Amino acid sequence: MGRLNGKVAFITGAARGQGRSHAVRLAEEGASIIAMDICAQIPTVFYPMATPEDLAETERLVKEAGGQIVTSIGDVRNYEDVQAAHDLGIERFGKVDIVVPNAGIMPVIDQGNQRQAWHDAIDVLLTGVWHTLDVSVPGMIERGNGGSIAITSSAAGLTSIGLNVFPGQTGYTAAKHGVVGLMRRYAKELAPHFIRVNTIHPTGVNTPMVANAEYGAFLQANPDVMNDESYKNPMPVELIEAVDISNAIVFLASDEARYITGVTFPVDAGYNVR
Ligand SMILES: NC(=O)c1ccc[n+]([C@@H]2O[C@H](COP(=O)([O-])OP(=O)(O)OC[C@H]3O[C@@H](n4cnc5c(N)ncnc54)[C@H](O)[C@@H]3O)[C@@H](O)[C@H]2O)c1
Repeated sequence: MGRLNGKVAFITGAARGQGRSHAVRLAEEGASIIAMDICAQIPTVFYPMATPEDLAETERLVKEAGGQIVTSIGDVRNYEDVQAAHDLGIERFGKVDIVVPNAGIMPVIDQGNQRQAWHDAIDVLLTGVWHTLDVSVPGMIERGNGGSIAITSSAAGLTSIGLNVFPGQTGYTAAKHGVVGLMRRYAKELAPHFIRVNTIHPTGVNTPMVANAEYGAFLQANPDVMNDESYKNPMPVELIEAVDISNAIVFLASDEARYITGVTFPVDAGYNVR
């Protein structure tokens, strides 16, 4: 018997990395999955973003885990795209119990148009999360079944990490702090409805966002960034795995966490007490 049997989860950024891992882990626990991803490149992002093939692979893995899934290609910056992905899921599964606004970019290396990188970071990481909540919450209230919203923030949502030298990185830090404000505002409003809202704050995670050739080359060329003590986790692990975040999301979505709301939940090998 899964811990999330009969539940439906809406996950953005689900084509790969943490979003894919969340889709598979939640499916293993019995949840059905509504998966959305842009599957396209945003020009200020210096590493390759996900592809339609990646989203198809998530679909395959969820089915392999015994789960049901509906997928959409769409951009969280565009309200109509989020609404369409959500509505397709409602059409298929009839409800949403778990929301995981996870889609993200890290436009933190100077590629020329860094002023645009600030806007892209805020649009994807903050406005995109608000779109996902604004689309999902009214139906969750109306159905009266409670629920769990776990927003992916970052260790950079609780403190300023490393050398914030580029506007895109400043936007990343600001947006990841911004979702804590969103979380608190929704946690307060939704508590009477038994809808719990929390943020998760991962340290570096082994996904294509950071484990890519472009970022590797940047770090090699900038040893001051790589050797910056403020990047290091107190527990001696450089990068944690996506499933470590998924396990926290499963816990927060389960009845075991039924009175946990309004929390900034670090999954960070001690980073926040370094
Ligand atoms: N990897 C890390 O070290 C790390 C650490 C802390 C927090 N995070 C956060 O975790 C989340 C997941 O990142 P990841 O590590 O899995 O990286 P990833 O790049 O592997 O996955 C992010 C996914 O989001 C999708 N996406 C990006 N912009 C989108 C948009 N506008 N609309 C829809 N989908 C979009 C991408 O296509 C990709 O599939 C992000 O919010 C990220 O900021 C990552």
